Amino acid sequence: MSESNARLALLSAAWRDRVGQAVDWLVERGYAGRIGLVLGSGLGSFVDAVEDAQMVDYGEIPGYSTTSVAEHAGRLVCGRASGVPVIVMQGRLHPYEGMPLEELLLPTAVLACLGVEQAVVTNAAGGLNRYYTPGDLMVIRDQVDLHWDDALRGLLASPFAPLPELGADPTPDPGLTRKLAGIGRIGGLARLFEPALARQMVEAAAETGVPMHVGTYASMWGPTFETKAEIGKLRRIGCDAVGMSTAPETVLLRRLGVAPVGLSCITNPARETGQPELSHQDVVEVGAMVRDRMARLLLAFLPRAAN
Ligand code: HPA
Repeated sequence: MSESNARLALLSAAWRDRVGQAVDWLVERGYAGRIGLVLGSGLGSFVDAVEDAQMVDYGEIPGYSTTSVAEHAGRLVCGRASGVPVIVMQGRLHPYEGMPLEELLLPTAVLACLGVEQAVVTNAAGGLNRYYTPGDLMVIRDQVDLHWDDALRGLLASPFAPLPELGADPTPDPGLTRKLAGIGRIGGLARLFEPALARQMVEAAAETGVPMHVGTYASMWGPTFETKAEIGKLRRIGCDAVGMSTAPETVLLRRLGVAPVGLSCITNPARETGQPELSHQDVVEVGAMVRDRMARLLLAFLPRAAN
């Protein structure tokens, strides 16, 4: 195992060896990168924009579980996009597939331990905000994790370790900072998604003419879509989009010292009475529709974030 890897040392002993084996296996094959990308349902085609691409199926990497969802191709890709060294997870595991957390989050831990500094976490989501229409993109400002559990239970060496150094907060909130100073910032997630990266994503959207919202993402277990009452509840608690991924992996990335930026592709309005039933295939098809837009956006974003 790579003893020198400071991020591995943050993981619980039981998990560290397993993650470390996958990391060593990938490092031997030249896997390294500055920015990590996680591509959600229907959004996997961004890998076509990766130059000098090296690919491996998840099933070949020691310790990886493979996804049961056919549309999530399940490959780890490394190469350059807009000149930036990237590692791309083409497809992810989902909480609704039912595996334990250490399996669900292993690929995310590996991505962090391969040394990426930032990560773009994308997903397909239902629009709760009435101004959103299918095909819109939303930068995630913050998230509500509705799994009703701490996503990292048992996975860190020290659950109460302070977060790795974040650097200066570009949008400080003096009131909040004062309050937090009194209680310490142990494991706090007042700054989960990196505001500077969110702003660069919005700038990249303006530059490429891609319409962009900024909003709050709700993460549910799935795999069933929401009831009408649940949609009402999610709106009332201030969420703009709802999906079935992203929250646990974003928390892990931040706790391991990787700065995350989240991007939701709105594939449907969250279902209300009178609309046809939504299928996973519908979600994947809208994802495919926006793929050019998304590729343009990410290619403009990556050099900004890397500078
Ligand atoms: N709900 C939950 N997850 C989703 C949706 C939705 O409406 N659309 C795409 N992923």
